[in-house]
Amino acid sequence: MDRRKFLTFVGGAGALAAMNANEKADALEMAMAQELDDAKLGRVSKSPICRAYGVDNSWERGPRIEGQYRHMGHDPRLPKMSDKPTLLEFFDKRIGHSSHLLQSARLAKLNGLPEKIILACLLHDISVTAYINGDHGYYGAQLVEPYVDEEVSWAIRYHQSLRFIPDEDVGYPYPEAYIRYFGEDYKPEPYIFKDGEYARNHKWYMSARQICINDVYSFDPNVQVKLEDFHDIIARNWRDPEEGLGYDGSPSAHMWRTMIFPNNSL
Ligand SMILES: [Fe+2]
Ligand SMILES: [Fe+2]
Repeated sequence: MDRRKFLTFVGGAGALAAMNANEKADALEMAMAQELDDAKLGRVSKSPICRAYGVDNSWERGPRIEGQYRHMGHDPRLPKMSDKPTLLEFFDKRIGHSSHLLQSARLAKLNGLPEKIILACLLHDISVTAYINGDHGYYGAQLVEPYVDEEVSWAIRYHQSLRFIPDEDVGYPYPEAYIRYFGEDYKPEPYIFKDGEYARNHKWYMSARQICINDVYSFDPNVQVKLEDFHDIIARNWRDPEEGLGYDGSPSAHMWRTMIFPNNSL
């Protein structure tokens, strides 16, 4: 291992000078072991989406080593997706059987809501769970739009803004949890109020509002909800494309592909 690489590994010449002989020997051994690992594993881009799947990004480190390629294609740290993935496969291998989504959908079912609203509740935080945090209602809606009734994606898009706007008349006070998460004084950005106002006057207002009402913030650890409980609702209200999600050329196909291959660089 060359000296420059070793110095980078230990944190510079000053850090090296402060070590005794034993520590230097240990550090060299660790640095060489890492170099070997890096060469074996290849470099993996640091993907925030990958982090959402609970994957440790420690493979991504250090400068490129001669003869080493950047990792592409299937990420071996994640379950491999089939050539024609369905929504259920995404739940199994990327989204996970999220208690938040399952318990929200269960509550919607108990409240006797129509199937498409139960589906909207099951998918309402799909983005925050498996894709991206910011503007999760908009991204979530975009992901599912080609495969659901228009009202479902509309409701998912506008639950994001409506959740900050209480409507006591329909049983939706400002969420207690948001005071805990964001503080008493937190004021959302103006676009949230603008879009919330638009949604309030829309014919599908109550569909988006129902997502907020059935959004379960405090999970009951004693309630076990299974995705299988919703298989029939998914089958009747979700259209998996014949080519598989990610490969059908829809406006959101690239987003599903990003979930399949979250570390592809280019
Ligand atoms: Fe949400
Ligand atoms: Fe939610």
